Amino acid sequence: MTFAQPSTDHRQRAAAPLSTAAATPATIAEIAQGLLAPSAWTSPKYLYDALGSKLFEAICALPEYYPTRTEAAIFARHGFDIAQAVGPGSTLIDLGAGNCAKAAGLFPLLQPGQYVAIDISYDFLSESLSRLQQRFPQIDMLGLGLDFFSGLDLPDSVRSGRRTFFYPGSSIGNFAPEQAIAFLREVRANAGSDGGLLIGVDLIKDEAILDAAYDDAIGVTAAFNLNMLRHLNLLMGADFDVRQWQHHGFFNAGESRVEMHLEARSEQLVRWQGGQRRFAKGERIHTEDSYKYTRASFVGLLEQAGFSAANIWTDEQNWFAVIHARAIRD
Ligand code: AVI
Repeated sequence: MTFAQPSTDHRQRAAAPLSTAAATPATIAEIAQGLLAPSAWTSPKYLYDALGSKLFEAICALPEYYPTRTEAAIFARHGFDIAQAVGPGSTLIDLGAGNCAKAAGLFPLLQPGQYVAIDISYDFLSESLSRLQQRFPQIDMLGLGLDFFSGLDLPDSVRSGRRTFFYPGSSIGNFAPEQAIAFLREVRANAGSDGGLLIGVDLIKDEAILDAAYDDAIGVTAAFNLNMLRHLNLLMGADFDVRQWQHHGFFNAGESRVEMHLEARSEQLVRWQGGQRRFAKGERIHTEDSYKYTRASFVGLLEQAGFSAANIWTDEQNWFAVIHARAIRD
């Protein structure tokens, strides 16, 4: 097993927004730009400090949050066909591997020749990968701490043959469609002509189911969203009074996305290092989009990025899709 420490540059870019330590002036300026926009917004990456990541794990266990268990059921039911499509001995590149559990569940079927786990949080990744290497000593494993949203420059130690990029959980939905195409193009450029992509995609469904998934009964998603303000307080020396804000999560059918917002419960002034903004009662900060696709619309998006969707597996209700896409040869 090998670990490639990210370059200093990567690590700084990767760690700055996610650590709970104070952010650099450039990061503060970037966040402030969103907070000062006429319709205030923040990047969803600030949802994920240590507590935010734990809250997201809790979301995945909620009865209302169907994506995690529906995708797991698709892998369990169609694992054999998925493995046949990918083929044994591939180079499996896990984007946002975290605890590596999803990919590890597929190892017995996929039998990759090399497993490359990539995550912004290098320390967490290296612990998970060390444990995994003991369970699967026959697989060559490589851990990379890098912020793949800022570019996918893979080192030579990543095998070049039959690369399969693994991007589960409908994380692609947190990109706007044009950003998703740009990101998938970058993946395609690194896949080579014999490479592919195994991706999980959340599908459009009944509005009430989507609304409940992002505004659950016991308020875990609300806590996840509100925790962003606590995180911003630490990052940029802001003084958000978290109790003065409330969560909204709902499906916007016109945009085909679930939106999360934080709404001011009262008129208030929020200050941070080098700036401030007055929020009126009812004014909102847009914190996240989670795009939902039809099978056809996502296949179209893959094609624009240079992939053809070779196989699509869904659950009985057609709520979620796992797609194996092959690189279209240049
Ligand atoms: C990580 N991502 C795919 C989740 C989603 O469903 O968009 C994040 C999330 N936001 C609220 N609940 C879950």
